[in-house]
Amino acid sequence: MRKMILLVCFGLFCCVLSGAEKSKTLILYYSWSDAGNTRQVAELIAKNTGGVCEKIMPVKPYSRKYSEVLKRGRTELKQEKSSPIKPLKNDLRKFDVIFIGSPVWFGTYAPPVRSFLQQNDLRGRKVFFFCTHGKGGPANYFKDTKKLCPAAADTGFSCYGTHVKKIAPQVKEWVEKVMK
Ligand SMILES: Cc1cc2nc3c(=O)[nH]c(=O)nc-3n(C[C@H](O)[C@H](O)[C@H](O)COP(=O)(O)O)c2cc1C
Repeated sequence: MRKMILLVCFGLFCCVLSGAEKSKTLILYYSWSDAGNTRQVAELIAKNTGGVCEKIMPVKPYSRKYSEVLKRGRTELKQEKSSPIKPLKNDLRKFDVIFIGSPVWFGTYAPPVRSFLQQNDLRGRKVFFFCTHGKGGPANYFKDTKKLCPAAADTGFSCYGTHVKKIAPQVKEWVEKVMK
């Protein structure tokens, strides 16, 4: 009888563990500006999914000077490989749903997000991209992310960086739609 109870408890424990693993969601993003527009969208996604947020960190941080970021960003995007990023704190293998966000830089992803995509094969996961942008809109962002990450879902989310404070309902709606 004691053995039986132990077996049932072990079975239940395994079920809880596998259920928790399956529903795990990671939200990766890069954000440069002081306002942290992309970070704010990432946090809204985390709120709606119960997921974990992590910023992709370049080994060499970008200058806080706009003119210098423009120069370095443009140079890096012209090269085939972006500069190195730090290893993630979270273990990617533990997540089966991954959201990835970037500010739009020169009509595409910011270099740290490109580095991440060049280094990681996300096949077999559910991957959703989002971005924040200025007047140029998402431009080539979704096309370019799809090229580096064929696992990307077709429906992404984008918004003006200046609109993030009032974007919560739209983020919620999008998350609910894609997580169905
Ligand atoms: C280096 C750089 C390049 C940018 N290029 C574009 C662009 O091509 N098109 C656009 O709409 N916005 C562009 N922006 C504006 C950002 O995409 C926008 O402000 C974004 O919301 C910033 O997000 P963050 O606060 O997460 O850094 C650029 C900003 C920077 C710093």
